[in-house]
Amino acid sequence: MNDAPDTSFVPELDARQRAMLAEMGVRVWAPKTQAQALPSVTSSVAPPTAPAPAPIPAPAPVARPAVTHTPSPEPARQAAPASPVATLDWPALRGAVANCQACGLCQGRTNTVFGVGDEQADWMVVGEAPGENEDLQGEPFVGAAGQLLDNMLKAVGRSRTGTGAQGAFIANVLKCRPPANRNPQPDEVARCEPYLARQVALVKPKVIVAMGRFAVQALLKSVEPIGRLRGQVHHYEGVPVIVTYHPAYLLRTPTDKGKAWADLCLAMAQLQN
Ligand code: URA
Repeated sequence: MNDAPDTSFVPELDARQRAMLAEMGVRVWAPKTQAQALPSVTSSVAPPTAPAPAPIPAPAPVARPAVTHTPSPEPARQAAPASPVATLDWPALRGAVANCQACGLCQGRTNTVFGVGDEQADWMVVGEAPGENEDLQGEPFVGAAGQLLDNMLKAVGRSRTGTGAQGAFIANVLKCRPPANRNPQPDEVARCEPYLARQVALVKPKVIVAMGRFAVQALLKSVEPIGRLRGQVHHYEGVPVIVTYHPAYLLRTPTDKGKAWADLCLAMAQLQN
C-alpha cells in the first residue's frame, strides 16, 4: 500500500520535492485559494510513513549585545571588540580553525569540522556541534541527522554539493566534537563564535536556518524555546534567521517534521524579499 503523504494540492512542487517531502514524512496541505503561494503553504504532519532513516591566534570570545526578536531588522549593534578572526579570508580561516586550541575540545578531536558547501551560497544552515561521525570525517552532518538534513535541503531544491540557487553552506556553532556528544558549554561557544561569525560574513547568505537551541542561542543570544521563536524572521548581523528544530530532534519527534517544513518555506520566502 502506498501511504506516502499526498502533496498533490501544491502544484508548484516537482516530483523530486514531493519525493523528498515524503521522505521527511511531511504532508503538505494548502487551501485551494492559496495553492499558488508555496512559501506560505501551511503544512500538517502525516503519520510517519517509514522509520526515520538509519541512519593564527586563538580567538578571544567576542561579547555581543543581545538581539531583540522582532520581525524587522534589529537596530545596529554596538561595536563589539574586534576579533583577529574577523579579517581572515577563507584559506586563513580554514587554517585557523584547523589549528585552533582556544578551548579544551581540541584535545579530544580527531578532526576539526569547518563546514561544507558553496562559499557563496545564499542559504546557510547552522547546526550545533560535530558528533562522532563528523569528528571522524571532518564534515558536518554526516550521520543519521545529516541524512535527514540532506532530505530537508533537497525538498527546497538544495544540497551540500550544489552551487548558486541549488547550494547551501552548512556549519556548526562548534568546530570540535564535545566529548560523548555532551552539550556545548558557554565558554566553548564563546571561544568558537568568531569562526562562525566570520563564516557568515564571508558567505553573505540571504537567509540562515538555525537548527536547534544551541544554534539559536549562539546566533540570537536567546534562551527562548524553539517553539516560541519559530515562525518569525530574526536577524544576525543583518541576515534573516529562521529558527527550526534540529534534525536529530526531528528523528526523535517526527510529528514535528511538518513544522520544520513550514520553517523551510519561511526561509525560502526570505530569498524572494
Ligand atoms: N549535529 C549537528 O548539529 N551538527 C553536526 O555536524 C552533526 C550533528
